[in-house]
Amino acid sequence: MTDQPLPEGLRPETLAVREAVARSQWGEHSEALYMTSSFVQSDCESAARRFANEEPGYTYTRTANPTVSSFERRLAAMEGTECAVATSTGMSAILLMALTVLKSGDHVVASQSMFGSTLKLLGSEMARFGVETTFVSQTDLQSWEAAIRPNTRLLFAETPTNPLGDLCDIAALAQIAHARGLLLAVDNSFCSPALQRPAQLGADLVVYSGTKLLDGQGRVMAGAVCGTTALVDKVMGTFMRSAGLNLSPFNAWVVLKGLETLSLRVRAQSAAALELATWLATHPKVARVHYSGLASHPQHALAMRQQGGMGGPVLAFDVVGQGAAQLRANAFHVIDSTRVCSITANLGDVKTTITHPASTSHGRLTEEQRQAAGIGQGLIRVSVGLEHLDDLKTDLCRGLDTLP
Ligand SMILES: Cc1ncc(COP(=O)(O)O)c(C=O)c1O
Repeated sequence: MTDQPLPEGLRPETLAVREAVARSQWGEHSEALYMTSSFVQSDCESAARRFANEEPGYTYTRTANPTVSSFERRLAAMEGTECAVATSTGMSAILLMALTVLKSGDHVVASQSMFGSTLKLLGSEMARFGVETTFVSQTDLQSWEAAIRPNTRLLFAETPTNPLGDLCDIAALAQIAHARGLLLAVDNSFCSPALQRPAQLGADLVVYSGTKLLDGQGRVMAGAVCGTTALVDKVMGTFMRSAGLNLSPFNAWVVLKGLETLSLRVRAQSAAALELATWLATHPKVARVHYSGLASHPQHALAMRQQGGMGGPVLAFDVVGQGAAQLRANAFHVIDSTRVCSITANLGDVKTTITHPASTSHGRLTEEQRQAAGIGQGLIRVSVGLEHLDDLKTDLCRGLDTLP
């Protein structure tokens, strides 16, 4: 069944439900799930042309699959990039970027506050292949510029960061990168295109853990890299055929449907996070709240400009306490006392999740690396979901109100 092409100029909310519906001959209304590893060819000549990329058409799901393509096209449309390539996880998206953009002898400048596995991948694993990374302050543009060397190829930022929510000024970093002929990649997992569209601010590549907000319901692992046809489709897409970091059709279908409600979810969760952060800031057992949606946050103005006027669904706070052992015990007490929040490392879910970053997501870092990233033993991260706010406050009070 042939559909009318969509009109030009549709907004991201419309594209989220209308873009890239790969409708079959049955005319189903909801997106079909093409759960197949390979595709039947009409004859050998046609198969040969398809395998040689001389004729359009599907051959094998590691090369392309209609459901995965729908997710890629829809995400790219929402992000405002020419294309996207989907991967099995967020980490495989970052690995895909590293293996295609970088080669032995290249240098990367990245934030020292990035997600723990990203720090490990760049700092340890890629180092074994001759790629060196200098980690710099998330917020200090001068330190990014000063770290650039003649062999630097990529600036890589994550904004806002996990778990503290510190920001990078994307437009300013893009200027620094482009003045030196470098690429800027931004991990947008914490905001999603519902709040922030880094490519519109000058980023060359936008990286996602689709496991977070894009799915938003804690069901599947997924990832993606968005950018230009020349780099993402031609270089990364071709590499995928050899490397096999693919997203499964089933997982692609789940995140594709997740995109439909993304904007509603992220806006509602961000509004709830602001209210929770405001309330936490007044609690006597909370030493400090880290949330860019608060007017008191040093990067509040940048957050409002860059993140569609919202702080996003994730906040963090330090509990009171003296010394690392007591801070850790207090944080554990607050987390273990909850009965509504889920004690789990994922984020961006409609179910509120609560985590102790120093012993989980950032547990593999050295104490020195954790301190550089500002992650103390008393820090708690909350990814706010869609529960009633009063229930969440009561849940956090169970532990906060009983702290010594
Ligand atoms: C900002 C960020 N980027 C990337 C990842 C990795 O994504 P995944 O767990 O889907 O591999 C995470 C996971 O928590 C993350 O928080």
